[in-house]
Amino acid sequence: MRYKIALLGGDGIGPAVVDEGVKVLNAVEKKYGYQFEYERALIGGCAYDDCGKPLPESTIQIAKDADAVFLGAVGDWKYDTLPPEVRPEKALLGIRKALNLFANLRPAIVFDELLEASTLKPEIVQGVDILMIRELTGDVYFGQPRGIEIVNGQRAGFNNMIYYEKEVERIAHVAFQSAMRRGKKVCSVDKANVLDASRLWREVVTSVSNNYPEVELTHMYVDNAAMQLIRNPKQFDVVVTGNIFGDILSDEASMLTGSLGMLPSASLSDNNRGMFEPIHGSAPDLKGKDIVNPIATILSAAMMLRYAFGKDAAADDIETAVKSVLKKGYRTQDIYSEGTTLVGTTRIGDLIAQEILM
Ligand code: IPM
Ligand code: MG
Repeated sequence: MRYKIALLGGDGIGPAVVDEGVKVLNAVEKKYGYQFEYERALIGGCAYDDCGKPLPESTIQIAKDADAVFLGAVGDWKYDTLPPEVRPEKALLGIRKALNLFANLRPAIVFDELLEASTLKPEIVQGVDILMIRELTGDVYFGQPRGIEIVNGQRAGFNNMIYYEKEVERIAHVAFQSAMRRGKKVCSVDKANVLDASRLWREVVTSVSNNYPEVELTHMYVDNAAMQLIRNPKQFDVVVTGNIFGDILSDEASMLTGSLGMLPSASLSDNNRGMFEPIHGSAPDLKGKDIVNPIATILSAAMMLRYAFGKDAAADDIETAVKSVLKKGYRTQDIYSEGTTLVGTTRIGDLIAQEILM
């Protein structure tokens, strides 16, 4: 079986973590006889340096032609002074929109081996297994009008939080269908006590829930959800929310697991085509030092196998390999604790790849 994968390393540590992902995919190829064909393309600051655009047409085309997109991260402080249209982050938003990747799945799973790495008490985080589902192509991120203009003699910055009911409906279906395969609980997060966009969100999610009588639906205001996530994270199974709330809550959820370096993500369209990337950023200060944790990216490769290619056994293999390497005591610096063995980016990638072939 052949699959075309668009490789978008991006900026900072992006290319290095993607390399470790590919290393692990090579092991999967060997074990299962699949063939992965890679096509590399530029995105973010490196693309801007190359052609003046963070998201060149050619990159969009390569991504559209591929069976899946495997992405590192974009951004670097050296682009902070660029106009907003050509900043690296714009490329990420642009590719999400161009590929219609409206459903962002961010699982936050606490591995027993890493209980020590969390800043929360072990009894609070042990066993946490949350699937955060973030709507990714709507909301205040894309709403029009937006801008900075002079209003009554002073500058005013504005964005439009807008959700169309079809957008809410399709993400709600993703949430309920995911819940059916897990704990059958969905918590929908909004700010319906204040925002009209949220009031509609809540109505639509509630009406979609009628199609899934087995799933228990609850609603929570986002401020309360932020608090509940650290007070008692085990109450959550699937969390579904809009773009901006999901951005914030998924970073928070990642810290339950001890490190941003552990959280993978899948951004999916209707046909399960998708883009797979770690949720962390490009960490330009850590570039070239061989110290960052590639596990989020390696677990994103597992999500690619599972969601884009339907290869559950191979995906399970990667996840099991990650767990065994952690069980054997190997740690990158972000998850290091006393008594474990500190290793670098490439070494932990090697160990995980070897584990798959054992
Ligand atoms: C994320 C990131 C992006 C977002 C940024 C880099 C545009 O924070 O994927 O969570 O806000 O969506
Ligand atoms: Mg974010």
